[in-house]
Amino acid sequence: MKYMYFGAVVAKALFCAGLTTAAALQQRASTSFKLFAYGGDGTIDGLPVFYSDGLAYAGWKTPSGSSVNTNITVAQTSSSLTIASRNNSTPLNGTSLLYIDVSSAAYSAVGFTATDAAPTKMTTGFIFYGSWAMWEDSAGKITSLFYATPTAQEGLYLLKWNQGVVDDGKSISISLKKRSV
Ligand SMILES: *[C@@H]1O[C@H](CO)[C@@H](O)[C@H](O)[C@H]1NC(C)=O
Ligand SMILES: *[C@@H]1O[C@H](CO)[C@@H](O)[C@H](O)[C@H]1NC(C)=O
Ligand SMILES: *[C@@H]1O[C@H](CO)[C@@H](O)[C@H](O)[C@H]1NC(C)=O
Repeated sequence: MKYMYFGAVVAKALFCAGLTTAAALQQRASTSFKLFAYGGDGTIDGLPVFYSDGLAYAGWKTPSGSSVNTNITVAQTSSSLTIASRNNSTPLNGTSLLYIDVSSAAYSAVGFTATDAAPTKMTTGFIFYGSWAMWEDSAGKITSLFYATPTAQEGLYLLKWNQGVVDDGKSISISLKKRSV
């Protein structure tokens, strides 16, 4: 199941080749897709990413104690990822831009916001290498530092962005793959 690390492997290959512009990367028009998490040598084998109380989780069950949960579709608008609720009874009320915290050494949850507040709520710079989600900083450096942190519920993970590349001993390096709906 080594191929599950494809995203991370590609990212590394890009650095090694010194390829640091998005020019070679696929830019697609805005069509809706879903995001799935892969990693941990198959431990995380295509878990859907969904909205829960403003944060991004991967799994088939909702976090215990959470109040607003919904499946989502994603569309890429320039370099932002805008989500839409799959459930008409659960509108997102504008809280629809996916963000990561890219401040120095941050290791924070991936979530959704109405307004960009970079660097803690960075909503731009997202690109896809093939189907794999990555982030390009203003200097053109491309990384894929998505991690899945286990919750108390088996098979349910909180998504994080590991800007500091910290090993917390429990989280799993993952890649996010898009699949059209
Ligand atoms: C998401 O979709 C799956 C499959 O249809 C369903 O089992 C699950 O309950 C949905 N989750 C939410 C939060 O609506
Ligand atoms: C859609 O959202 C409503 C309100 O939150 C909820 O009661 C319902 O179970 C959801 N439907 C699905 C299919 O998840
Ligand atoms: C958006 O507002 C509606 C109505 O107040 C509420 O039911 C829903 O849970 C809100 N959505 C989110 C994501 O908080």
